[in-house]
Amino acid sequence: MVKCYSDAAYDTMEHSMDFNKALILGIESSCDDTAASILEINSKGSKIKSSIVHNQFNLHKEYGGVVPEIAARAHAELIDVVVEKSLKEANVVMGDISAIGVTAGPGLIGGVLSGLMFAKGLSVSTNKPLIGVNHLAGHALTPRLTNKVSFPYLVLLVSGGHCQFLIVHNYNRYERLGGTIDDAPGEAFDKAARLLGLQQPGGPAVEEAAKTGDAERFNFPRPLLNQEGCDFSFSGLKTALMRKRNELIENQDGLFEKDVCDLSASFQQAMHDVIVEKSIRAIDLYAKITNTNPTFSIAGGVAANKKIRHSLKNICKSKKLEFLAPPLELCTDNAAIIAYAAAERFLHGDYDDTTLSARPRWPLDNQKPAILGSGKRGSKA
Ligand code: KG4
Ligand code: ZN
Repeated sequence: MVKCYSDAAYDTMEHSMDFNKALILGIESSCDDTAASILEINSKGSKIKSSIVHNQFNLHKEYGGVVPEIAARAHAELIDVVVEKSLKEANVVMGDISAIGVTAGPGLIGGVLSGLMFAKGLSVSTNKPLIGVNHLAGHALTPRLTNKVSFPYLVLLVSGGHCQFLIVHNYNRYERLGGTIDDAPGEAFDKAARLLGLQQPGGPAVEEAAKTGDAERFNFPRPLLNQEGCDFSFSGLKTALMRKRNELIENQDGLFEKDVCDLSASFQQAMHDVIVEKSIRAIDLYAKITNTNPTFSIAGGVAANKKIRHSLKNICKSKKLEFLAPPLELCTDNAAIIAYAAAERFLHGDYDDTTLSARPRWPLDNQKPAILGSGKRGSKA
């Protein structure tokens, strides 16, 4: 697979490096995807020459969540295979690689360590520069890889492990406008699906069931909507769903298919309303802070939700803002976005060395106190 994207990194850098092209190997292992990618950057643009993602879904499914020890072991067992595959698919060898970009956090520490130790060994043995990437920066910079967006812009990260609004001022400067104080939205969708006996991952299953459901039958809470700001809270919503489900089971001796669909639709509607309202606030806040209107981009698995995506697109249209939704394979976890974030640093000659350490928590915005979203990666940024 060869995909051509923008040359944002290349042509907005004051790089003094003399090269026709650079090949970055990206490695990702911070949660339940073992991934490697080869990204080419040249004067014309960025090309994803390969992107291999090995999901561990089957290993964790019987436990109802990602088990850190199992994840770390599986990453350690597969990381070399996945890297080799990415080189082979891109038709290159290690000698062609200009730098190694690896997720150094935030995430499940065992998984992050598996990728990082492998990348360090590879860097030392091949004498290639090592670049430790913040996983969240990988997501936040994706609109530059796909759409050549100039700094600054606004990103909403919504996945099973993340939830935050960020002003992306530069490749190394981020300002968090808000985030979740408990569950991540994808995590809430996954828990809802579990309560309703639907498949994992829960987001797509709840969305499917919601199609034929009545979104007005249950009036679930819209947490933090009556409070100022752009923070989220999703755990109360999940509890409200559980109560309603239990009530129905008690009253009628079980859940009918119609109940599952109506509960799904009502739950999705509440998630939607909160995310949409908070996005409107984040756009306004961005305008106040920067005196400009943002390009607004979403990233993360929940960005796949058609109802949410559609409404965010419409809001941007009505406000005459550019709205970007990267292709799904770049919204969910992968190593191409890690390679791209490394490329931005590579072009600035901004490298790490073997003292680079793995960080379970690593907020992108150092100026703000950390918030404690749990997410399927455990408590982190
Ligand atoms: O970004 P991602 O692949 O992994 C991380 O969590 O980092 O996101 C996966 C999450 C899961 O929680 C999944 O349920 C959710 O994204 N998701 C969705 C949809 N598709 C995936 N949530 C709502 N609606 C969807 N269509
Ligand atoms: Zn992610």
